Amino acid sequence: MRRVVYPGTFDPMTNGHLDVLRHGCALFDEVVIAVLHNPLKQPLFEASERLELAKAATSQFPNVRVDTFEGLLVDYYVKQSFHGVIRGIRNMQDLQVEMQMAHMNESIYPDIHTIFLPTSPERSFISSSLVKDVAMHGGDISPYVPQVIATALEMKLRKH
Ligand code: PNS
Repeated sequence: MRRVVYPGTFDPMTNGHLDVLRHGCALFDEVVIAVLHNPLKQPLFEASERLELAKAATSQFPNVRVDTFEGLLVDYYVKQSFHGVIRGIRNMQDLQVEMQMAHMNESIYPDIHTIFLPTSPERSFISSSLVKDVAMHGGDISPYVPQVIATALEMKLRKH
């Protein structure tokens, strides 16, 4: 059984992430979405909220599990005996950043396998940061995130 990890901040999960996940699910037996809990970062949603939102947004995928991790990705990867890491690529900028991360991970742990999956062109401009920006300024984010996320974002921003 081929199990891969899809790590990220997912603050929050977008339709771009779901697109990458769709490809991952078609290629591998199980995809574990690993939500990074980084105490040094100040995300809009807490790790527990991002975990619950990712679960709700991916319930249609039978071979997806959602988890959180802290610390180095390679440590989590080894502990969970994954066969690979999947990451989405939207553009050349992503490729540059992702190559650097993949090389760093491989330098720390040479047996890690990173697989880049391109997003579909119509989703290549979607990012969690831009979605939050549009939402904060009162724009319609429904084309860019699952409904459950749009609702959660609206509620969160009302409290802020
Ligand atoms: O969604 P993001 O913020 O682009 O995801 C980045 C992530 C979580 C994959 C990356 O920051 C990560 O793996 N962080 C864990 C700490 C780590 O292993 N750092 C060294 C890898 S370059």
